[in-house]
Amino acid sequence: MPKDWFEWHDLYNTDAKLQQRLEIVREYIAYSLDASPAGTIQVVSVCAGDGRDLLGTLANHPRAQDVYARLVELNPQLVERGRATIESLGLSKQIEFINGDATSAANYIGAVPADIVIVCGVLGNLADENELNRLLGNLSFLSKKGAFVLWTRGHSQGIAYSETVRKYFREFGFEEINFQLTATGDMGVGIHRYLGETLSVPKEQQLFVFSGVPNKAR
Ligand SMILES: C[S@@+](CC[C@H](N)C(=O)[O-])C[C@H]1O[C@@H](n2cnc3c(N)ncnc32)[C@H](O)[C@@H]1O
Repeated sequence: MPKDWFEWHDLYNTDAKLQQRLEIVREYIAYSLDASPAGTIQVVSVCAGDGRDLLGTLANHPRAQDVYARLVELNPQLVERGRATIESLGLSKQIEFINGDATSAANYIGAVPADIVIVCGVLGNLADENELNRLLGNLSFLSKKGAFVLWTRGHSQGIAYSETVRKYFREFGFEEINFQLTATGDMGVGIHRYLGETLSVPKEQQLFVFSGVPNKAR
């Protein structure tokens, strides 16, 4: 069992569910980049880990030079690894990795509203459906009208939690572009489009509370 979020990332080496999840997330990021109009593409990643989803996609994507991104992550070792990847891709002028609290609206100022919002590995780490609603509501601050929002949600004890997430996205007026379960059958990955108006000022300073722990990550 991983003792911290840095160790949790080692699971990507062995866990089929996480590997399949990453493949789908990268597919959705590539889709979003392909679908973006000419010009700059603003991306934010919430609780970005080491950024392997976005950075792994940009390594081989023709729109990489158009992307301006801010990744927000609390674990300094993951940020260090992510920054090294950015450097190796030659994208340091466009992509910033902030070592900070992704639940705080202040850490997105200057990078939002975004065209692509990545919220992977987060929704299973919220205390309850109220907290999920709070985060979905606060996406109005992070997202441009028409932004792509990418998310993941694991299942456990036979409960298809990703269906709950899809239901709330529907209720919040997002358009579902695609949804897939991993071949392992217990991890949902979705891509939605935000159709509402953008809020220039956040409704609240704390966008959500991240309450998950790495040895029980969902
Ligand atoms: C399940 S991992 C997902 C990482 C990455 N998004 C991915 O899908 O590979 C959750 C991440 O959230 C980070 N995290 C937890 N609380 C945070 C907070 N308040 N602000 C920023 N990052 C946080 C952890 O350090 C961890 O890297």
